Amino acid sequence: MLAGFQPISGAARLAGVIGWPVAHSLSPRLQGFWLREHQIDGAYVPLPVRPNDFSASLRALSSCGFAGVNVTIPHKESAVALCDELTEDARAIGAVNTVTFDKSGRLKGHNSDGFGFLENLKQGAPTWRPDESPALILGAGGAARAIIHVLLKAGVPEIRLTNRTRARAEKLATEFGSLRVVEWEEHALAARECGLLVNTTSLGMTGTETLEFNLDNLPKAAVVTDIVYKPLETKLLADARARGNPTVDGLGMLLHQARPGFEAWFGVSPNVSDELRSFVLAGLTP
Ligand code: ATR
Repeated sequence: MLAGFQPISGAARLAGVIGWPVAHSLSPRLQGFWLREHQIDGAYVPLPVRPNDFSASLRALSSCGFAGVNVTIPHKESAVALCDELTEDARAIGAVNTVTFDKSGRLKGHNSDGFGFLENLKQGAPTWRPDESPALILGAGGAARAIIHVLLKAGVPEIRLTNRTRARAEKLATEFGSLRVVEWEEHALAARECGLLVNTTSLGMTGTETLEFNLDNLPKAAVVTDIVYKPLETKLLADARARGNPTVDGLGMLLHQARPGFEAWFGVSPNVSDELRSFVLAGLTP
């Protein structure tokens, strides 16, 4: 009886994920795996919070003894203004996905999306060198901002950016500088000499249109990655794999972005293992 039951005590550390809706979030499953793996006296819970209640809820969680929270859609941008302090990454990206609460109730906003992206690439394509060749980024939304920021920090010499709505790409180019905006219709041409191709759009996700990308101009050694992880192998990744390019799927970005929060709240630096990947994958609804 009760085999495998892992109780928490009255002193348990608490964290969670705030979103609206939040029922689809894989974060409780992911953080729960690590809590169990490390036998931590703690809990990580889903926190469904409507946009109008976000500010009050964030403060209330801090006064309820929570160590912090992950922040997901639609609150990532509003969290920026609510935090008392921001990390350099959160400020540059303009969004917060992790908040830590200190004892005096101050909220510190972090953004680990770019970190997760880069750590996923390092794990999945260890031979990729950021400073050797240009990168082509498809999309100019929130995910693209985080990825551009870390790629520039990592020393990528040239970023080519293309988006269906050119104005959004131009806006990012103005903000970050050193980006070359390419017409969406010409994205296939822009793949020449690139060492990295990243899809940051929602295209290819189950239930959306497929991303049609002609890979003919992309060097065979270029790493192709997609932030979409449902399906795990998008058409873009399947096409790239078929012609011999190394590919990295998007699930790892989700897993790695969770590491800094877990470490800050629960005091242990967790690993992204194959066992974790399989466990989280099993929680993906078809
Ligand atoms: P996120 O914060 O997850 O990046 P977002 O800000 O909504 O989400 O951005 C979604 C990205 O997918 C945008 O680059 C969007 O292009 P637009 O700026 O032109 O909207 C891109 N996207 C979504 N649907 C698309 C489609 N059917 N064709 C091309 N790009 C699409």
